[in-house]
Amino acid sequence: MSLPRGDGFVHLADYRPPAWRIPSAELQFELDPEATEVLARLVLSPDPARPGEPLELDGEELELLAIALDGQPLPPERYDYDGQRLRVHGVAANCVLDTRVRIHPATNTRLEGLYCSGRLLLTQCEAQGFRRITFFADRPDVMPRWRIVLRADRAAYPVLLANGNPVGTRDLGEGRHEATWENPHPTPAYLFAIAAGAMERVTSSLETMEGRRVELNIWAEPGDVARCAYALGAVERSLRWDERRFGRCYDLDVFNVVAAQDFTMGAMENKGLNIFNARYILADEATATDADFLAIESVVAHEYLHNWSGNRVTLRDWFQLSLKEGLTVFRDTEFSSDLHSRALKRIEVVRLLRSRQFPEDAGALAHPVRPDRYREISNFYTMTIYEKGAEVIRVLHTLVGEAAFRAGMDRYFADNDGRAATLEDFLSAHAAASGRDLSQFARWYSQAGTPELRISEAFDETSGDYTLTVTQNTPPTPGQPEKQPLLIPLRFALYDEAGQAITTPPESDTTVRDGLAELTRETHVLRWRGLGARPLPAFNQGYAAPVKLHFEYTVPQRARLARLERDAFNRWDLLQQLATEALLGTPHAEAATAALGDALADLLSDASTDPAFVAECLALPDFDTLAEALPEVDVDALVARREDLLDRLAEELVEPLQARYEALAAVARGGLDGAAMSARALRNACLAWLTRLDPEARLSQAQFDAAGTMTERLAALRCLLHFQAPGAPAALQAFRDAHAQDPLVTDKWIALLATRPDPETLADVQALMATPWWKPANPNRVRALLGSFARSNPLGFHRRDGAGYRFVAGQVAALDAINPQVAARLLGGFESWRRWAAPRRELAREALASLQGKLASPDGRDLLQRLLD
Ligand code: BES
Ligand code: ZN
Repeated sequence: MSLPRGDGFVHLADYRPPAWRIPSAELQFELDPEATEVLARLVLSPDPARPGEPLELDGEELELLAIALDGQPLPPERYDYDGQRLRVHGVAANCVLDTRVRIHPATNTRLEGLYCSGRLLLTQCEAQGFRRITFFADRPDVMPRWRIVLRADRAAYPVLLANGNPVGTRDLGEGRHEATWENPHPTPAYLFAIAAGAMERVTSSLETMEGRRVELNIWAEPGDVARCAYALGAVERSLRWDERRFGRCYDLDVFNVVAAQDFTMGAMENKGLNIFNARYILADEATATDADFLAIESVVAHEYLHNWSGNRVTLRDWFQLSLKEGLTVFRDTEFSSDLHSRALKRIEVVRLLRSRQFPEDAGALAHPVRPDRYREISNFYTMTIYEKGAEVIRVLHTLVGEAAFRAGMDRYFADNDGRAATLEDFLSAHAAASGRDLSQFARWYSQAGTPELRISEAFDETSGDYTLTVTQNTPPTPGQPEKQPLLIPLRFALYDEAGQAITTPPESDTTVRDGLAELTRETHVLRWRGLGARPLPAFNQGYAAPVKLHFEYTVPQRARLARLERDAFNRWDLLQQLATEALLGTPHAEAATAALGDALADLLSDASTDPAFVAECLALPDFDTLAEALPEVDVDALVARREDLLDRLAEELVEPLQARYEALAAVARGGLDGAAMSARALRNACLAWLTRLDPEARLSQAQFDAAGTMTERLAALRCLLHFQAPGAPAALQAFRDAHAQDPLVTDKWIALLATRPDPETLADVQALMATPWWKPANPNRVRALLGSFARSNPLGFHRRDGAGYRFVAGQVAALDAINPQVAARLLGGFESWRRWAAPRRELAREALASLQGKLASPDGRDLLQRLLD
């Protein structure tokens, strides 16, 4: 890692290994919310290859109370500290540095370093929060073994947790006590964690495949433990799955998880002590939706799975971020796919990719999966690093197959265990295991932008020869005008007139096997000789490559394929394409609407198809996905067309919608089994369509009144509020009062209020900010109100008068002083502003420009500059 260059950016090319190593670190905390003292004893040793380098440590906003080298207090001329870096002069050999600093958790609203959440004391260190706790080489390639001693008032902080294994506790007298933890695995500072407070737990114990007995605990504030059981089960499932699918075992005697109400991100994989946003732990059927349960399971898995992909094998530097995040998203996605429906998981992921990652890749903030420079690393926890990074790993998996992929992972883990690795290490392990040259594949990591595939066909009636010509192109992105061809695995199938798959392989100028062509050049040709009739082609089954694919189907062809395709994902995708044509493709819009209506009618009356799949087919592409496909976005026109289509289809489908809604009532009635969740998903989809047709919203009112689960109650409340039903105010009041003590459920109604599709919603959002419900220091509350408004309310955010933009910009300025990461994420709502049609583009630009000089944090300033450049 290295310091910024003169241009203010840290560059990948400037990486240098640490000049000083820290083989062991011992910390002692005197915990107190107002003023905590941290004693650190660091064993330091210079890199023998680079002797004579100065000793410099990171430290931010630390009050230095004492400093000693090899037991001798240092006089002031031996060191200096400028608020960012501590330099110790005149040390050249192995030594021990002792420091004592004071920090202030209670006033730490950034929630980085040591902070308070309610009555708990907690840490968040990734990426660079550890330097706000004590002086250290705060970079992921410095990996000591740690000993952590926590001392605190026993009554206020009866539970004292840290990384690693517990090695002892003792009473200190005067109401204070002490706990000691040891983490034997070399661990970078970003994975450091402690948690202290009056927590209670749910617990279980199991034996790993290697025969280690492990205690699993989920800790929460006392009233909340009853809602931790599901998350505990998810930990067990994750642990077992990593053993089975990747042969990876857990490696400490205890795995602790803590749930906190104040947490900037979703969750954090600290070694042996994961810390979670409470929304990804706490759940029961009365307060959490089915979607919440599934999200909890996948976030728990994600953090657990980091224990190998991130912790045992960590990162050399932050440019490699996707090496842990993309890989762990790939792993948690496989976990969910193995445990539940693979097709539904694929649909969920591709929806997210299209609605959020594609716009990022096409907008002002586009960057490669491995960026080559950054000003502020916290702005790089993006859809591209996570979701595209996971897709790129899936591409590798598709290219080499499961067996070689597993062999490559085994090799990667074995070769890099206890080390700080790079993407090159990952690729060379996979190259060795699969025997493939992955140098062209590596371009996926260095080139930004979503690749486009254009496929055209030719059929010679006399010879029966059928040719597909495939051309790839990646559009220019900021700083990358020219792109090279990528290695893209293209899945394909051909159907004959009878709807049978044609199994003859094509002749080609590239490798083709089992319906998979490896595209390496700008253009390739696939040719079948002597077919009896023109076949119908289908592509990218299971969405094997994260590309935009263009083939000029007629409407009847798409409709036919939507029934023929073996691949469930593609059947869904073809309906999404029909809907997109109905919404955007003017010449065929009528035909596409009719075909979509027929297909949905058939699906609704087909009791043999998974109801959750039918629900996915009923959910048309969202605003962001549609907007991304347009060169210029006219917000009102797009929203209006989408609403018109929904109204029209609802009328056409009213009978099958009603029939299915009623038929599924009994199955939907409760329980977390797949059948019940699927039934609720489809019933709620039907309910939303049916409520369009009834200004009284009687069905929604009835469901709201009778609901036995949060899934049913919240869906009904959404319909009542968003369609402005007469019963909406009373329902909202009842819901609000029933859950007034629960911040997570409160976030749910606040998000519903903020997403009502109406320009007037801005006034509701502003009114809420004048009530005690508004808690700007709580990231979940900010996201529920402002994140929902800026990201999921096109009519509100994009008001024609620009008031939505001005409002969000103003809130970014206010929040920047409280929690810069939360503020910076809100700014992301502007990433596509250059494609917004007049007058909005100019209004957005003005709102952004008004922020210049008003943001103090590097996070906000970096993002604003990239948005405006
Ligand atoms: N390592 C991250 C948490 C993190 C993110 C820390 C950004 C610091 C800055 C963690 O593993 C993670 O990725 N969490 C996700 C949820 C996950 C399921 C994708 C999150 O917090 O959103
Ligand atoms: Zn992660």
